[in-house]
Amino acid sequence: MTRTGSVNKLHSHTPEPFVQIHPDDAKRLNIQDRQLVQLENNNAKFLAKASIDDEQQKSMIFAPIHWSDAFASAARVDSLVTAIVDKISGQPQFKSTAVQVSADQAKWHALLFCKENVDISFDYWCKNLVQQATMYSISDQCDEKFIIKRIQNMFKHIKDWVSLTDAATGHIRLAGFESDELTVLMFISPDQDGLVDKNWPAKQIGEKFEKAQRYQVLIGKDQGDVPDVGAIICSCFQIGENQIKDAVLAGCKTSEALGEKLKCGTNCGSCIPELDKIIQTM
Ligand code: FES
Repeated sequence: MTRTGSVNKLHSHTPEPFVQIHPDDAKRLNIQDRQLVQLENNNAKFLAKASIDDEQQKSMIFAPIHWSDAFASAARVDSLVTAIVDKISGQPQFKSTAVQVSADQAKWHALLFCKENVDISFDYWCKNLVQQATMYSISDQCDEKFIIKRIQNMFKHIKDWVSLTDAATGHIRLAGFESDELTVLMFISPDQDGLVDKNWPAKQIGEKFEKAQRYQVLIGKDQGDVPDVGAIICSCFQIGENQIKDAVLAGCKTSEALGEKLKCGTNCGSCIPELDKIIQTM
């Protein structure tokens, strides 16, 4: 990854703010991998997804510094750090701070795709650029019964909506159209794994849909057999986790072998530790 890389590609590599935590600490705190966690001290609250990793030192956690308030609801690490500076040099003390870590009790999770940035006020959200869409990953503790109304209020200028609610699974889907053009699409689930893959819905934003086709977009995926590549691991070559897992199952047991088959890891090389981790966990 480089500072000059395209933002879309960087987003596809680590699409959400995360907190790296040792497995023993995660177990003690009853935190699952990818669960929303809260860091808190006298200065601020911070929300991000847990990334359980045995390379993280025990009793310490790590969070990246690059998330700003423009891209996430509460993922600015420096908000947690007390404003102390060295008396002589003025150098701030910003490398570490004490926090309490706990699992957040979000009731539902969602992906919201839209054409442009929108003012958003849920407990947790982060923003990504995916294809031609702006995508918000959202989690919240409010009653999901009010979500449809709340989203429609955010897009008051849209009058043309279709929605589906499945009371048995708790899934809710919603699409908004302007002159037949899809401008808002949202998938809500009580469980993060119940959400759709982001790539197909993002591609539909800005497309025209006849009245008869509108409910089809709520399916959230291509109705042909286009495979889901999964989260992008190698941003240089846009190779996804599912492609890498398939290659490992097909016999690629080293990062070099994966590089020969898929090219991943053969440019900047920064994805190689993640390739090794996937190989080890399979
Ligand atoms: S991210 Fe650069 S080679 Fe994979």
